[in-house]
Amino acid sequence: MENIVKIQNVSFNYKHIEESEHVIRALEHVNLEIEKGSFTAIIGVNGSGKSTLAKHMNGLMLPEEGTVIVDGMVTGADDLIWKIRQTVGMVFQNPDNQMVSAVVEDDVAFGPENLGVDPGEIRERVDMSLKAVGMYDLRKKAPHMLSGGQKQRIAIAGVVAMLPECIVFDEPTAMLDPQGRREVMEIIEKLNHENGKTVVLITHFMDEIAGADRVVVMDDGKVVMDGKPRDIFSKVEELKQLGLDVPFATELASRLRKDGIDVPKDVIMMEELVDFIAEKRLQCQ
Ligand SMILES: Nc1ncnc2c1ncn2[C@@H]1O[C@H](COP(=O)(O)OP(=O)(O)OP(=O)(O)O)[C@@H](O)[C@H]1O
Ligand SMILES: [Mg+2]
Repeated sequence: MENIVKIQNVSFNYKHIEESEHVIRALEHVNLEIEKGSFTAIIGVNGSGKSTLAKHMNGLMLPEEGTVIVDGMVTGADDLIWKIRQTVGMVFQNPDNQMVSAVVEDDVAFGPENLGVDPGEIRERVDMSLKAVGMYDLRKKAPHMLSGGQKQRIAIAGVVAMLPECIVFDEPTAMLDPQGRREVMEIIEKLNHENGKTVVLITHFMDEIAGADRVVVMDDGKVVMDGKPRDIFSKVEELKQLGLDVPFATELASRLRKDGIDVPKDVIMMEELVDFIAEKRLQCQ
């Protein structure tokens, strides 16, 4: 399969302007390839370099060392920056910071307008994007009247309207209530499964990751684990040492195992655990 993003040996330091000696190493020789059409989750404790890495994926930040290639384009080449930003869209944590207009549909039109898309096509893209996130009926509303989850769906529609091949979500549910989190996760999964978008999801909520194809674990600016969710989450102790949680079902399964119940090690979804326990009960009867 083709890779839409290639991160090759990338390092990045933040320098404090007032203390020029003081350098924070945010990324250290990171190598990562994102396959077209895949769903990759990136996890890691605060400050492990996730957001810095995300911003390298569409040229918002440029590597100090190493190379980032987006769909064959090297980031940093001046004439390609808009093409790169159009190929990889980004959705951030705070929906309020991503709203620019007083009406929902104008907000979604903002991106394609900036790309110089024809007005007729903008209309089509706005309608398509609002339908994709289930917000078409609210297109005439003012964004500030909407819930956090709805605002975040509008922000996602704004990115979808630019027709990116890949969308990087940097903690898109961090500021939402459980209902908003569910709404936004459903949209993200749908964009991957039904619309074929490549998804990169950064999150602290381990339950959001069970459906990903792949989990990348970052620590101190480096990729320290990379694999399928089931393989990564079966390493409960290793993850805990990195300061990370596991999905609730995995945690519960691990405790049951400690109590001598032979729950399989690769349980990550609650339904699986429920099925296992139901079967056990049947066998006991
Ligand atoms: N603008 C900045 N100036 C200086 N240092 C920064 C800046 N942004 C991030 N850093 C530092 O770079 C390192 C990586 O930060 P980054 O924001 O990429 O981590 P993160 O994994 O996204 O964290 P979080 O989970 O809190 O969002 C941290 O040590 C952080 O303090
Ligand atoms: Mg971050």
